[in-house]
Amino acid sequence: MSSQNIYILGIESSCDDTAASVIHNGKILSNVVANQKIHEEFGGVVPELASRAHQQNIVPVVHQALKKANITKEQLNAVAFTRGPGLMGSLLVGTSFAKSLAYGLNIPLIDVNHMQAHILAHFIDEEGFKKPPFPFLAMTISGGHTQIVKVEDYFKMTVIGETIDDAVGEAFDKSGKILGLGYPAGPEIDKRAKLGNPKAFQFTKPKVDGLNFSFSGFKTAILYFIQREVKANPNFIEENLNDICASIQYTIIGILIDKLKLASKQTGIKHIAIGGGVSANSGIRQALKNGEQKFGWTTYVPKFEFTTDNAAMIAIVGYLKYLEGDFAEQDVMASARLKI
Ligand code: KG4
Ligand code: ZN
Repeated sequence: MSSQNIYILGIESSCDDTAASVIHNGKILSNVVANQKIHEEFGGVVPELASRAHQQNIVPVVHQALKKANITKEQLNAVAFTRGPGLMGSLLVGTSFAKSLAYGLNIPLIDVNHMQAHILAHFIDEEGFKKPPFPFLAMTISGGHTQIVKVEDYFKMTVIGETIDDAVGEAFDKSGKILGLGYPAGPEIDKRAKLGNPKAFQFTKPKVDGLNFSFSGFKTAILYFIQREVKANPNFIEENLNDICASIQYTIIGILIDKLKLASKQTGIKHIAIGGGVSANSGIRQALKNGEQKFGWTTYVPKFEFTTDNAAMIAIVGYLKYLEGDFAEQDVMASARLKI
């Protein structure tokens, strides 16, 4: 079989997005995501509702991905799916669907680690986007994870720093909740931060040794700060919302950049990539760009649609594993705590 004509279907269902994508060699032909609006009213993802919504969405989403790619399922060479980490009930929907489809079509099944996929999304062929050379550092920042990973090859990755409690996305979302913003609050904080003064309010950065992160104390500091200010002025939030958002975002970005600087210094690696939902943030994108002049970094920021959860990143890992002949068996199991 020619390695020049490979179609892979990628399926992602680890949290609250049901997604499917078709990749032809390294190029994305379709990238479909069904967001689950249902969680907004609960201020966070409700696992039971998520798995139910995945069950409703998965067939139409896969259909749409094939249709947009303009291929039939018989043309697929393999089915790749997110094995973990994530919510067990959600993972099970994608895993069982992928298994049955691969079995029915008699083609290979490929298991994908969601966190590796956020990193390997940088290897999607996309005009105007350069691929990082090995070794590089990848900071994965999402609603569930915050890691700094040393990437020596596609599948040779070492986590050199990670959060000891909350993820950075949670710091955004929980701060937003305290401010009365909707879920997830990251995009709204980003939008408001552009209109506010980042130095209006000061928040102390958590002190964590080495390359690890901690965000639970940060969230508590925001809570106490808001409670104190609202006691003195009940309209404090409304009157200062943009400034508060800008200051929160500024502090969080400072924490991330400090650790990246340290990681770069310790490893001597100056090629730096980011991935995960929080890498959609305009402030972190700008801070990284600034690092090029300030610290001599070469930085890699994914295309917007490959930052938050998507299946294109699953499909590209599927493609890379396909080329290596690295397939899964039918008895492969979803793994909520799968490690890199
Ligand atoms: O990668 P992702 O879609 O799902 C997980 O695997 O967690 O990340 C979702 C997280 C949420 O916490 C959301 O608030 C955050 O990414 N996020 C942002 C932005 N867009 C999404 N955070 C800050 N600024 C943004 N523009
Ligand atoms: Zn993710």
